[in-house]
Amino acid sequence: MQIKGNTILITGGTSGIGLAFAKKFWELGNKVIICGRREERLREIKKSFNGIETKVCDVQDGEQRVELALWVMDNFPETNTLINNAGIQLLTDLTREVDLNRVNKEIEINLIAPIHLTSLFCRHLLEKNSAAIINISSGLAFVPIAFMPVYCATKAALHSFTLSLRHQLKATAVKVFEIAPPSVDTELGADRRRDSNQTHGGMHVDEFIAEAMGYLENDVYESAVGMAKNMREKGDALFAMVNH
Ligand SMILES: NC(=O)c1ccc[n+]([C@@H]2O[C@H](COP(=O)([O-])OP(=O)(O)OC[C@H]3O[C@@H](n4cnc5c(N)ncnc54)[C@H](OP(=O)(O)O)[C@@H]3O)[C@@H](O)[C@H]2O)c1
Repeated sequence: MQIKGNTILITGGTSGIGLAFAKKFWELGNKVIICGRREERLREIKKSFNGIETKVCDVQDGEQRVELALWVMDNFPETNTLINNAGIQLLTDLTREVDLNRVNKEIEINLIAPIHLTSLFCRHLLEKNSAAIINISSGLAFVPIAFMPVYCATKAALHSFTLSLRHQLKATAVKVFEIAPPSVDTELGADRRRDSNQTHGGMHVDEFIAEAMGYLENDVYESAVGMAKNMREKGDALFAMVNH
C-alpha cells in the first residue's frame, strides 16, 4: 500500500501498537484519526501531535461503533484506511465456571468490533481509488498460550476472518492486510502486573512498527513480525514449547 497520502482510522490509539502506528503515519504526513476509551490520553495526544484527530469510543459497544463510523465518514470523507487494532488480553481459567461478561467483553472487543467496523466502512472504502483494511492479530493466533484461551481464540478467528475478507475484496482496490505481532512491549495485560512499572517484555514497539511498515509498503498481505514468524510457520509444533 502507499504509506503516504492516506486518511487512516486506528482503533485503540491511546497506547502501544496503535499509538505507535498513529505517530508513524502522522510523521509520514497521513491524516490520522484515533479512538479509545481514555479521554485524557486522547486529549494529550491531540495536543502533542498537531492534526491527529481523536474520538472517545468504546468499541465493545455496537452503537458506539456505528456512531464512530458515521462521525469519521461525515467529518473525514477521504478516509481510505481502517486499522482494527484495539484489543484486550485476559487470563481465563477453564477449570472453573467462566464469567460470561468477561468472555463476551474479550470477544466483542477483539473480534466482533473488527467484523462490525469492517462492514460499516466497506462500502465507503470501495469508492476509493486505493484503500486498505489492516487487522492486528497475533502470533498467538497460530500457537495458543493455554492460560489465555479466549484471547488466542479471538486472534485465530480474526486470522480466519481476514482470509475471507481478502477473498471477498480480491477484485477491488481495497487491500486487506493482517499483521501478527510477537510479544511487544506495550500496556497489554498491564492490569495484571504486580508492579505497574513492570514491562510487558518482548520487542520494542518502534522496532515492531519499523518491520510492520516494511510489510505494508511492500504489499505483504499477511505478515508475522519478529518471533511471530516462527509461530506462523511451525504452528502446532510449538504448542508444547510455549505451554511447558
Ligand atoms: N503487545 C503484544 O505483545 C501484542 C502481541 C500480539 C498482538 N497484540 C495486539 O495488538 C493490539 C494492540 O495492543 P497493544 O499491545 O498495543 O496493547 P495496549 O498498549 O494495551 O493498547 C490497546 C489499545 O486498545 C484500546 N482498547 C482496548 N479496549 C478498547 C475498547 N473497548 N474500546 C476502544 N479501545 C480499546 C486501548 O485504548 P483505551 O484503553 O484508551 O480504550 C489501547 O489504545 C491488540 O489487538 C493486541 O491484541 C499485541
